[in-house]
Amino acid sequence: MVTRVATVAFEGIEARAVDVQVQIAPGAVAFTVVGLPDKAVAESRERVRAALIASGLALPAKRITVNLAPADLPKEGSHYDLPIALAVMGAIGALPEDALSSYCVLGELALDGSITAVAGVLPAAMAANGRGLGLICPAATGPEAAWAAGDMDVLAPRSLIQLANHFKGSQVMARPRPAIAAPAGTMPDLRDIKGQEGAKRALEIAAAGGHNLLFNGPPGAGKSMLAARLPSILPPLDPRELLEVSMIQSVAGQLKDGALSNRRPFRQPHHSASMAALVGGGLNARPGEVSLAHGGVLFLDELPEFTPQVLDSLRQPMETGEVMIARANHRVTYPARFQLVAAMNPCRCGMALEPGYTCRRGRTSVAPRNTAPASPDRSWTGSICASKSPRSPLSTSSCRRRRKARRRPPPGSRRRGIGRAPGLPARPCRLPPPMRPVRPP
Ligand SMILES: Nc1ncnc2c1ncn2[C@@H]1O[C@H](COP(=O)(O)OP(=O)(O)OP(=O)(O)O)[C@@H](O)[C@H]1O
Ligand SMILES: [Mg+2]
Repeated sequence: MVTRVATVAFEGIEARAVDVQVQIAPGAVAFTVVGLPDKAVAESRERVRAALIASGLALPAKRITVNLAPADLPKEGSHYDLPIALAVMGAIGALPEDALSSYCVLGELALDGSITAVAGVLPAAMAANGRGLGLICPAATGPEAAWAAGDMDVLAPRSLIQLANHFKGSQVMARPRPAIAAPAGTMPDLRDIKGQEGAKRALEIAAAGGHNLLFNGPPGAGKSMLAARLPSILPPLDPRELLEVSMIQSVAGQLKDGALSNRRPFRQPHHSASMAALVGGGLNARPGEVSLAHGGVLFLDELPEFTPQVLDSLRQPMETGEVMIARANHRVTYPARFQLVAAMNPCRCGMALEPGYTCRRGRTSVAPRNTAPASPDRSWTGSICASKSPRSPLSTSSCRRRRKARRRPPPGSRRRGIGRAPGLPARPCRLPPPMRPVRPP
């Protein structure tokens, strides 16, 4: 006889239905998991075995086969522990026969039989609700699952024993309540900015229209400070946005104690961020910074320091509002509709636009062509990009061609990498830039 328990596999923020089938048959003693499991899933049999023993249940000395159907869908993550353990418990008669048929199950097991938190409970709960099922999830993520629907049956046990007692009727669990996270610290406020009326006005226009924004000015002008204060004047998340933003955070494992946050996200990746960190991906696909900034702000400070490939990778999400990561056997799509705010200095030393100064290095290679002239009071220069500009000013293929040409040795040169193509400008050195005040004529 085969015991079945419903669970999910994640594709982006979509939760696809997966059937955990367990068969206990006579034969050589074995515990096998099949159905394209990754390393974490394959290791689950050791956790399941230890958790069942810790809960006072011994596995029968028979052949136990676990199949994760559909067999051609890759299964990633540790959330298969709990459905496998419950299916085994159902197969050996430790749980009533029909107890699990109306639930979707996910959770990780510790060796002592306790159930630990996993990522993706909110999208799993929404998918289970869509299929007319209840949800069994770890206690720590119960408040997150309770957001899916007010009348949905949600069980959030702390351990296998607590769940078994619930089904026996000796310790009935209460439904968890949906929770909103208490704001962590005070949000930087636009009131902190002294003066800078033009920059504040630009921030307000960007906040009202959802425009992208570029601050271009000398060091210490307050660019980073202004950008960090944009979330304080953004409208609050509406209920639909709250669920969408929280689903991404849930899949990324960033919801603390299962509580949702109604603040708009503000993400500030360091300029050393890789393409996978920015747009998502990696071995086990995870949402990148552009998706974690969905519904909020992505702030790229020191814009020219980001590698051109990383900046180029922003074009697709900025144009389509989502990012698609192609893997060898499937594709993953994450929402990525964010407001891009960037800050930069006009040149290597930052003073090129200042009255009375000139920079011998020239402008940074990725400086936008429409940079406004410096304001006479040495405050700031800024330009607002259209929300959906047809062509990003960040980096172009001609830039790439020029860089490639610089790397090519000149004809006649023996050593590689020491020359540069004739007619191209000298490569700027990495030393601090020389500054000299302009003498009045
Ligand atoms: N208008 C302002 N009102 C209040 N404080 C300001 C203002 N402008 C600058 N400051 C102060 O100057 C500090 C430096 O500002 P900030 O780091 O934002 O400059 P920046 O333009 O980003 O410089 P850099 O180009 O070096 O990154 C701020 O932390 C703040 O204390
Ligand atoms: Mg700064």
